[in-house]
Amino acid sequence: MPTRLRVLLAPAEIAALRREDLGETTCVVFDILRATTTMLTALANGAEAIVPVEEIAEALDWKARHPDVLLGGERQGLRIGASLTGGVEFDLGNSPAEYMRDVVEGRTIVMTTTNGTRALRACLGASAIYLGSFLNLRAVTQRLQEDPPESLLLVCSGTGDQPALEDILAAGALCEKVWSHYSMDLDSDGPEVARRLHALMGATLGEAMLSACNGRRLLAQPHLRDDVPRCVQRETLSILAGMDPEGVVRRIPAP
Ligand code: MLT
Repeated sequence: MPTRLRVLLAPAEIAALRREDLGETTCVVFDILRATTTMLTALANGAEAIVPVEEIAEALDWKARHPDVLLGGERQGLRIGASLTGGVEFDLGNSPAEYMRDVVEGRTIVMTTTNGTRALRACLGASAIYLGSFLNLRAVTQRLQEDPPESLLLVCSGTGDQPALEDILAAGALCEKVWSHYSMDLDSDGPEVARRLHALMGATLGEAMLSACNGRRLLAQPHLRDDVPRCVQRETLSILAGMDPEGVVRRIPAP
């Protein structure tokens, strides 16, 4: 059986995923700035589970049915406030710094973000779905190297309708790690684009973020500026996290 590695570089390709049979495919979803980085930070700080949803109304519905959940996420990068919900203030925004142990330990967090939670939901039906970030890249790599899936799909969540440089860089870093397993059978250019971009810019991620729209957007806002260096740290978390078929994200215990 030939292996297959694909990288979805732009959100338009993610929309098409919903029509695809992903039953034999393992997905890794990247939203470096900031959704998957923030979710992994929350789980590393003891959050019980994260439920990514697409719409604010779905999050509010969860809260109505399960009043103990925390609501998190963003629109336009900012915590969701009463004007978007008809009166409910979300507990948390989308900054990893907000998801500290004293806030999230033991809690279930329902999150909605512009791109990241949509990308995760689009992968439902895949045989495995992992959350990717620079923070836990080694843990994801190890899992894929231990048990290489025949079909591996790296999903770059993007920003709005546009590709996001930081997501492509992270996908490229992972491509490099698994290259020997997949490079003989490539049937699309996404992996080569991502891998070469990472080779070009990946050594200085902080600097690369100055070339990224999302990086510049966050850096321009004093209360969000620190998210950028935090989200491009490498290997600060050893955790693996995945989304189950019910759409709930949990930490996957080490074997
Ligand atoms: C998203 O999911 O679109 C992002 O994480 C956006 C953000 O953090 O501002």
